[in-house]
Amino acid sequence: MSSLTAASNLSVRAVGLNHYYGDGSERMHVLKDICLEVRYGEFVTLAGPSGCGKSTLLTLIGGLKSVQQGSLDVLGCSLNGCSSTLLNGLRTKIGMVFQSHHLMEFLTAKQNVQVATEAVIDRSYRARELRCLELLASVGLRDRADHYPSMLSGGQKQRVAFARALACNPQLIVADEPTAALDAQTGRDVVSILRSVAKERSISIVMATHDPRVMEMADRVIAIDDGRLVSRL
Ligand SMILES: Nc1ncnc2c1ncn2[C@@H]1O[C@H](COP(=O)(O)OP(=O)(O)OP(=O)(O)O)[C@@H](O)[C@H]1O
Ligand SMILES: [Mg+2]
Repeated sequence: MSSLTAASNLSVRAVGLNHYYGDGSERMHVLKDICLEVRYGEFVTLAGPSGCGKSTLLTLIGGLKSVQQGSLDVLGCSLNGCSSTLLNGLRTKIGMVFQSHHLMEFLTAKQNVQVATEAVIDRSYRARELRCLELLASVGLRDRADHYPSMLSGGQKQRVAFARALACNPQLIVADEPTAALDAQTGRDVVSILRSVAKERSISIVMATHDPRVMEMADRVIAIDDGRLVSRL
């Protein structure tokens, strides 16, 4: 990777990041001078009112939107004007989890996780299958591997989504309100599972959440208000 920055213990580093939607008089300043550092293995939550910019920041970190202003380095790769090849390579090292699980209904839990390993060409089919079963076991779902999503509870589906996010061997998980569709206790349980798997493997997690108990599980809570970081607890 040509844009690799010097080795560091940071998985995410944003300096003076600004983001806008729209043009001319419609232009809206959504992220304002964001400076943020996340270490490998650190679990950080983003908190703030609806519309404050959490999802926008997460999609920038996940390489799903182009950086407009300021600098953003993710997993040692500068996202400022980087090539699509570099960006595609980076995306394979980031596990994404959204509010809805986005599982494919016609695939079993194991097959849903396997889909995310398709890009891992240096492993045989059998090796990838074993890895998927291992991942499902790590989120407590080994016995549900052959179940279709319609046969799983909401919390179980979201745990399959976590296993799928872990399947690419990510160094970073970007999660946008992954517990919003779950009851409070189930939400906390699934985050607790994700947290322990991530800690074991030194994977960073950057997660938007509105749940104060999920925030309590994090190493750090970053509050955003109207596009600005207002505190770093
Ligand atoms: N694609 C878009 N085009 C124009 N405006 C957008 C777009 N996406 C988001 N916005 C606006 O940008 C602001 C920040 O949105 P964002 O989705 O980042 O907020 P959020 O903090 O994730 O909110 P929530 O907690 O409701 O998910 C909001 O005012 C929103 O209306
Ligand atoms: Mg959002």
